Amino acid sequence: MKTAFVSIVKVIRLSSWGLKNRLSSMIRPETGRSVMLACDHGYFMGPTHRLEVPRKTIEPLIRYAEALAVTRGVLRTSVDPKWQTPIILRVSGGTSVLREDLSDEGLTVSMTDAVRLNVSAVALSIFVGTDHEKQTLLNLGKLVDDGEEMGIPVMAITAVGKELEKRDARYLSLSCRVAAEIGAHVVKTYYCDDFHKVAESCPVPLVVAGGPKLKSEADAFELTYNALKEGAVGVDMGRNIWQNDHPVAMIKAIRSIVHENCTVKEAIEIYNENKSMHSVENSITA
Ligand code: R5P
Repeated sequence: MKTAFVSIVKVIRLSSWGLKNRLSSMIRPETGRSVMLACDHGYFMGPTHRLEVPRKTIEPLIRYAEALAVTRGVLRTSVDPKWQTPIILRVSGGTSVLREDLSDEGLTVSMTDAVRLNVSAVALSIFVGTDHEKQTLLNLGKLVDDGEEMGIPVMAITAVGKELEKRDARYLSLSCRVAAEIGAHVVKTYYCDDFHKVAESCPVPLVVAGGPKLKSEADAFELTYNALKEGAVGVDMGRNIWQNDHPVAMIKAIRSIVHENCTVKEAIEIYNENKSMHSVENSITA
């Protein structure tokens, strides 16, 4: 029996038709939910395991995503302009995993280029509580000003750099709320215990990242199921999909939870049924 999902409806009062239109292309109006495919890791992680050749990773999966999150470089080189999936363009950067502190980010793409690239949203990281908190929050303010002017929604990402242990409800509630108060139209954060507290106090739609690959498929399905039940509108997931040996089966199973309210058990069945569709050889390690 399916557990009833908690429905938290968040209506953003948007002034621009273009902005509303772009947002509704990424969050399906019929379900109010979204499966976003995150492939923007290279901007600070370099050739991440199983994202070494971005087009090979993206092509089999893109038809199952409401939106694709990439950088300008991957968009130009590895995404066919004929593909219709809305693009969330990563526009912050300036650090790499070789540094201890990943929070020293600036804006790497102008809003003019984002418009020229015909993207549906721009995304940047904010690093609340770090030495670069102010700088990343001012980046967000500037991006929201420019986005409002051009009709492009802004997704703020509550990044924690290498400090993964920071991801608790107290910290994430604060970060998400700050992002929404500065004007983010959507916030991407992490799932955590008591996630409902994060969702309830954030007045704009929330999606959750998957984070590093979890021990099992069931763990990723459970994260998705719980996040949706507690108020997220979807996922913006990367490694738990494309680092899996069966990425198409994985994204189809995630979709079943997000759009069809499937349980974890049902998602496992869908994953197993679809395993033959596309698999990846265990080759390069990064
Ligand atoms: C970090 O590189 C990006 O913000 C990713 O888009 C985000 O972490 C989601 O990807 P994953 O599910 O792999 O954590």
